[in-house]
Amino acid sequence: MNVLLIGAGGREHALAWKLSQSPSLGKLYAAPGSDAVAQHAERLAAGAADAPALAALCREKGISLVVIGPEDPLAAGVADALRAAGIAVFGPGQAAARLESSKAFAKEFMGRHRVPTARWQTHTDHAKARAALSDFSGGVVVKADGLAAGKGVRVCANRAEAEAALDDIMLKRAHGSAGASVVLEELLEGPEVSLLGFCDGERFLPLAPASDHKRLLDGDEGPNTGGMGVIAPTPHLTAEELADVEKKVVGPVLRGLRKDGLEYRGLLYIGLMMTPKGPRVLEFNCRFGDPETQALLPLLDGDLLSLCAAAADGKLPEGPLAWHGAAVTVVLASEGYPALPAIGRQITGLAEAAARPGVLVFHAGTTREEGVWKTAGGRVLAVTGVGKDLAEARQRSYAAADLIQFEGVQLRRDIGKVAARPGRPA
Ligand code: AMP
Ligand code: GLY
Repeated sequence: MNVLLIGAGGREHALAWKLSQSPSLGKLYAAPGSDAVAQHAERLAAGAADAPALAALCREKGISLVVIGPEDPLAAGVADALRAAGIAVFGPGQAAARLESSKAFAKEFMGRHRVPTARWQTHTDHAKARAALSDFSGGVVVKADGLAAGKGVRVCANRAEAEAALDDIMLKRAHGSAGASVVLEELLEGPEVSLLGFCDGERFLPLAPASDHKRLLDGDEGPNTGGMGVIAPTPHLTAEELADVEKKVVGPVLRGLRKDGLEYRGLLYIGLMMTPKGPRVLEFNCRFGDPETQALLPLLDGDLLSLCAAAADGKLPEGPLAWHGAAVTVVLASEGYPALPAIGRQITGLAEAAARPGVLVFHAGTTREEGVWKTAGGRVLAVTGVGKDLAEARQRSYAAADLIQFEGVQLRRDIGKVAARPGRPA
């Protein structure tokens, strides 16, 4: 089977690496791909959201399955257009992708189908939103409704911060039209868990639960980022808690999708906070997480391509999925990230790091010029260590990360540190 992978980031490098191991793969193509993805796939010149060009390429190259990596093409309806052209797609259509592309839509969906989530209000009027802040005395989270590359959420400790967030999002339009509506949410507390699963509309087959680390600095300090590191399986979701989440969250979500006539064939990412009152959904993503994918795919036993093809056909196997060991992924970011990342810096030590046992180096933002790898984005690399447990995975990941150098590199030193201690962290 010839397959087209859409996207260009670290997630897509991991997807290309795993897809290329499939016995049923004919040829793997990528649009637009990256220099790193090109190690596993032939790059095609088409924009990720240019559905007519992508459909034409599928016909020309005999591509029968398209795997969509990022959220923008999903929100733009690329999956619908390709399906209408008779091509199987791993990724939901535009209507179901609103679970990610509109936070207000996701909250209404959860309210309608009794999925546990933080209490909320949606506002389109700035003055009314400001007045409504007094309904959230225990702290408030202000969220731009639309897609904002993970940057549209402000966790506010007090009223002044919340007012500033509303001004920024609604008046100054810090995230453009994504801020035309806002969701105000009660502030929850507890560890966060990313539960990613293959979904065919009827079944949800979870991967190992993971914990992302969104803040830039050790100890969860500093600004929010796209994600600075991941541990999987996370100790923040025990087997009993997973069973509880399947009953209280996954079941109602699957029933809700069917009731609302939303066909979901792709990867469903459920962002959870494990509060003292039980699991609460923070967000849905309609695609693989980045950098969760770089930690999870190396643990997955078996064939990613057959899972994607089965989900696209609406025929996932009974499950459960099998995985082995544990992974710790450390992100190496550019100087100045997340505000103003410096690019074009030479990277050394990549081959030495990748040659270590149990280590995979995935590229998020790099280019290759005359055989030399250079930084080309905010998050540059994700270094994954796989081991029998988190302690071994962590040791492998950091030993490899320390072999890689570029000027101004930023990385957290505490990914997997708490979790690697015996027992369950508070
Ligand atoms: P989201 O994109 O909605 O998942 O929000 C991004 C991040 O903001 C989450 O990963 C949490 O760290 C934080 N966050 C979102 N909603 C809440 C909430 N209701 N209470 C506390 N923190 C939250
Ligand atoms: N790691 C968070 C995300 O992919 O949105």
